[in-house]
Amino acid sequence: MAKKDSTKKTLLVALGVCFVASILVSTAAVGLNPIQSNNKKLDLLKNILAAGDLYKDGIDIEKTYKKNISSQIIDIRTGKTIPEKKYDAQCNVDDFNVEEMANSLKWGEDIPQNNDIAGIKRKPKAMVVYTVKENENISKFILPIYGKGLWSTLYGFIALDKDLHTIKGFTFYQHGETPGLGGEVDNPKWKRQWIGKQAFDADGNLKIEVIKGIADRGSTHAKYQIDGLSGATLTTRGVNNLVRFWLGENGYGPFLKKMKGGNNG
Ligand SMILES: Cc1cc2nc3c(=O)[nH]c(=O)nc-3n(C[C@H](O)[C@H](O)[C@H](O)COP(=O)(O)O)c2cc1C
Repeated sequence: MAKKDSTKKTLLVALGVCFVASILVSTAAVGLNPIQSNNKKLDLLKNILAAGDLYKDGIDIEKTYKKNISSQIIDIRTGKTIPEKKYDAQCNVDDFNVEEMANSLKWGEDIPQNNDIAGIKRKPKAMVVYTVKENENISKFILPIYGKGLWSTLYGFIALDKDLHTIKGFTFYQHGETPGLGGEVDNPKWKRQWIGKQAFDADGNLKIEVIKGIADRGSTHAKYQIDGLSGATLTTRGVNNLVRFWLGENGYGPFLKKMKGGNNG
């Protein structure tokens, strides 16, 4: 009787199994790609809504977004709105990706090292800005922010009231900090602390800071201070720096100044 088992047959079967498995895995990867990018987009919209205090479990995210949020792209240096005719495949409100914009030759630029407190090396020359409207009037501005923590770059949003100094919301939608330590940036209790804090003083000086430890609630500075995350001083410092970078002169400063003056045309 012919011998059924042989090294050749074993190898052939193993190769066959590998081949079938690789076809299955790559088909699944390609097939799931559009679903993944749609979910990523929905998650971004969900976080914009959350920063604007418009998210509740079970809502139709796209519908709520369309109903309440408008977006525009602003020139970071001047604070002026970029007209739609200047939009292109990379720079547009529907598909805005801060990372791609920052790395783009056309839309990104290096940040001089002494200004780079957020540790991001490059930034977009144009940023998308979201506004929440109530009865046709702007009630909040939602601004994308990002910067280095300890292990990762944190991407999120800060919402400012129409008065342009009261913080109305704060959230990160992407980071790789350690759960329980730097990852506590996602703790709803910590995020709620931001609401009602003042980003600027009456003279327009940038005041908001995330401090190491617990803010003294009785102090005159308390309205500008957020408690640090315990056991996560480096993430805390990163969040402080990225918020101060984006609200400062090299971030949304020119835009905020223009809006305070009543126009950004
Ligand atoms: C496994 C591991 C993960 C850590 N993750 C973080 C983190 O996500 N963010 C952070 O600031 N510190 C993290 N740390 C702690 C830092 O190394 C550093 O000790 C800490 O930021 C100092 O904070 P403290 O002065 O509040 O103790 C981690 C430490 C270890 C061992």
